[in-house]
Amino acid sequence: MTTMSGNDGPSVDDIGERGWFTPAPREAAPAPGTAAPHGGRPEDGAQPDAAGRTDAVAHSDTELIRATMAELEQTPDAAVAYFYALLFVQYPHLRELFPASMDTQRDRLFRALLNAVRLYDDGPRLTAFLAELGRGHRKYGTQAAHYPAIGECLMATLAQYAPQSWGPRTEAAWVRAYTAISQIMIDAAAEDSLHAPAWWQAEVVAHERRTPDIAVITVRTDQPYPFRAGQYTAVETPWWPRVWRNYSFASAPRPDGLLTFHVRAVPAGWVSTALVQRARPGDVLRLGPPTGSMTVDHDAGSGLLCLGGGTGIAPIKALVEDVARHGTHRPVEVFYGARRGEDLYDLDTLLGLARSHDWLAVRPVVAAGSATGDALTGRLPDAVRAHGPWSAWDGYLSGPPGMIKSGVRTLVGLGIPTHRIRHDSLEELVATGA
Ligand code: HEM
Repeated sequence: MTTMSGNDGPSVDDIGERGWFTPAPREAAPAPGTAAPHGGRPEDGAQPDAAGRTDAVAHSDTELIRATMAELEQTPDAAVAYFYALLFVQYPHLRELFPASMDTQRDRLFRALLNAVRLYDDGPRLTAFLAELGRGHRKYGTQAAHYPAIGECLMATLAQYAPQSWGPRTEAAWVRAYTAISQIMIDAAAEDSLHAPAWWQAEVVAHERRTPDIAVITVRTDQPYPFRAGQYTAVETPWWPRVWRNYSFASAPRPDGLLTFHVRAVPAGWVSTALVQRARPGDVLRLGPPTGSMTVDHDAGSGLLCLGGGTGIAPIKALVEDVARHGTHRPVEVFYGARRGEDLYDLDTLLGLARSHDWLAVRPVVAAGSATGDALTGRLPDAVRAHGPWSAWDGYLSGPPGMIKSGVRTLVGLGIPTHRIRHDSLEELVATGA
């Protein structure tokens, strides 16, 4: 079990005890002209910054790190297995933080480490992501003192599986990157522990099967749970300890404090199947902190173009409720996609909202050949394209990764700039390495 707030381990200063983890002084920038020729071993010298900056240390770090990544990608599974084997042999007490069976998800942490390191100079967006990741790690029982162990095993794995690009300069670059990433996560967790628990207990108070595969589950938390419409959280069931899966809140914050999730049981989905088929009122789940940036900017006046696929409609409904409560009544258009008419399990709720709010339009879309009622037929992006124009609208997308990818492409093609399109796939991409 993880620890509650205020018991999250030593302060960040304690970590400096391990030499390699202590933030290393930055190396001097390489003299212009000493860079390795393109394609040479990165260890042979650093590339100068494209802009000719002399302060190109971070840039040369990135080059070295990318070279390691490229080499590692040739044997990713073996490297992941080696990393965890090493971690659990060297630090057996950390085994209990991880799920009993790690067959399906065991590369998430490792891949995230690699991707976060790869992106570590990507600026404020990555910093915000890492801070959220650090806060989220409190629910696993992660403590500041655990970071050196992970770092040490990561370095040993890289040395083993990327021998061509490994050397003192590359190692120094990785140590700097890992130290910077860890520091953001550790600081965010320490700050969070001052005012929030590491997790919340949540008792199931209602469980409604909408289709054989989909349940609408309402829970009451043991402490107030502050969140914003459009966010999601990690959920752990009593049947699969330490296995956490993400679900979006299906409503804006309610006066009674209850939270609702829409869950589809997916094949081999332990948590989703347990939540749909097994959970009953009285069962107690655990929730991580609220996460995600797919929230409404109430200072903007533009309309909201929302694409929701399958249970991805849950946070879209929450956003609609949020706009309704905020009272500005910006136009909102919802395209709700599913394979078949009977999969549009929440259509009645959305149509009810549309009847009460004249600023809201809801358009169901089902795959060609399965037309039902007033639903449009075809692909979701095509249905969006057939309406519009949308260039002055803000885009919100939620659904399976493929739908998000094609949806974003469509909205950009329709003239909506990327900074006005919201979805949570940076988190997904970094977490899964997709
Ligand atoms: C820079 C350091 C780290 C990074 C970038 C990182 C990243 C991640 C990511 C992205 C996940 C996937 C689930 C999620 O988003 O929460 C994850 C899971 C996890 N991490 Fe970390 N992590 C780091 C350090 C640590 C440390 C020090 C520990 C403690 C030993 C730890 C323990 C775990 C555990 C127990 C899981 C759940 C694994 C599972 O569900 O299979 N992580 N980590």
